[in-house]
Amino acid sequence: MRILVVGSGGREHALVWKIAQSRLVEKVFCAPGNGGIAHLVECIDIKADDVFGLLEFARKEKIDLTVVGPEIALSLGIVDEFIKAGLRIFGPNKKAANLEASKVFSKELMAKYKVPTADFKVFDHPEEAKKYIEKIGAPCVVKADGLAAGKGVVMAKNIDEAKQAVTSMMQDKVFGDAGKKIIIEECLVGHEASILVITDSKQVLALASAQDHKRVFDHDQGLNTGGMGAYSPAAIVTAHILVEVMEEIIYRTIDGLSREGIDYRGVLYAGIMLTKDGPKCLEFNVRFGDPETEAILPRLKSDLVEVMLAASRGELVKVKNLSWDNRACVCVVCTSGGYPGDYVKDKEIMGLHEADKLKDIVVFHAGTKKVGDKIFTSGGRVLGVTGLGTTIEDAISKTYKAINKISFEGMHFRRDIGSKALR
Ligand code: AMP
Ligand code: GLY
Repeated sequence: MRILVVGSGGREHALVWKIAQSRLVEKVFCAPGNGGIAHLVECIDIKADDVFGLLEFARKEKIDLTVVGPEIALSLGIVDEFIKAGLRIFGPNKKAANLEASKVFSKELMAKYKVPTADFKVFDHPEEAKKYIEKIGAPCVVKADGLAAGKGVVMAKNIDEAKQAVTSMMQDKVFGDAGKKIIIEECLVGHEASILVITDSKQVLALASAQDHKRVFDHDQGLNTGGMGAYSPAAIVTAHILVEVMEEIIYRTIDGLSREGIDYRGVLYAGIMLTKDGPKCLEFNVRFGDPETEAILPRLKSDLVEVMLAASRGELVKVKNLSWDNRACVCVVCTSGGYPGDYVKDKEIMGLHEADKLKDIVVFHAGTKKVGDKIFTSGGRVLGVTGLGTTIEDAISKTYKAINKISFEGMHFRRDIGSKALR
């Protein structure tokens, strides 16, 4: 088979790396890819949001299966266009992608189908939103409805901060149309985990659990980022909790979508808060998580292509279960200095080869580019250094040893990835 992976981050490097191991695969392309992916497969200079460019390429190259990484392509309806053209693609269609592209859609669906989530209210006028904030007080959470590159959520500690968030989203329009509607919701307390499943709307296969680290500095300090590291499995997701999450969150949502006439095929990612009242859903993503995917896929023993094909055909029932490596996996993200604010790029990365050749280590590239034989930084999140170990402790120790081999000017990484699992 000929496979096209869409995207350019660490998640896509992990997908390409895993897909290339499939016995079904003859050739893999990635659009647009990055410096590390270019080492494995052919990268094509087409951006992830160029739906028609990707369609034309897939037609011309007789691609048998396209796998979509980022939400932007899904929310633009890449799946609908490929299906119309008779091309096989793994991911949800445009209506289903609304689960991530519109938080209002997602929360209203959760409310309608009794999926446990934070109490919330939707607003399309700033003054009403501010009055409501005065009524409920702080802390509270203010969320822009639409896609905002992970920046559309403000955890307000006091009333002024919450009102300021309303002003910037609705009046200053910092996220453009994404802030036309907002949600104000209750602030939940607990530990977070990510549950990802693959579904064809009828069957559901859970992937191994993972925990992300969203804040930029150790001990969860500083600004939210796209994700500074992840580990799998997440010890806090016990078998009992997983059953609860599947029954109350995942199945209710997929069934609810079906009742709304929406057929969901692809990865469904639930961000979960484990509260004292049980697991509650913080948000849905309609794609693989980043960096969760880098920590999950190295543990997957099953052929991912077989599973994605079955899901896209609506034949997931044919895949009995997924088989996992019992070892733990840790992914530590190395970022450019300054990220998630303004950061510098075009710095040469040293020591990649020394790190990559260590046993049980893979270095996934995120924001890198290849120039001649050298690799340079080209984004905020630069690398996801990933290690497998017999225990989380072992995986952590191997991963940080590998990171010690790598350097570039301004390189930053958290030193406590996975340490929550040890407590
Ligand atoms: P979201 O994009 O909705 O997942 O929000 C991003 C992050 O904000 C989540 O991973 C949580 O850490 C935090 N968050 C979002 N909603 C809430 C909430 N209602 N209570 C507490 N934390 C939240
Ligand atoms: N790791 C968070 C996300 O993929 O959105």
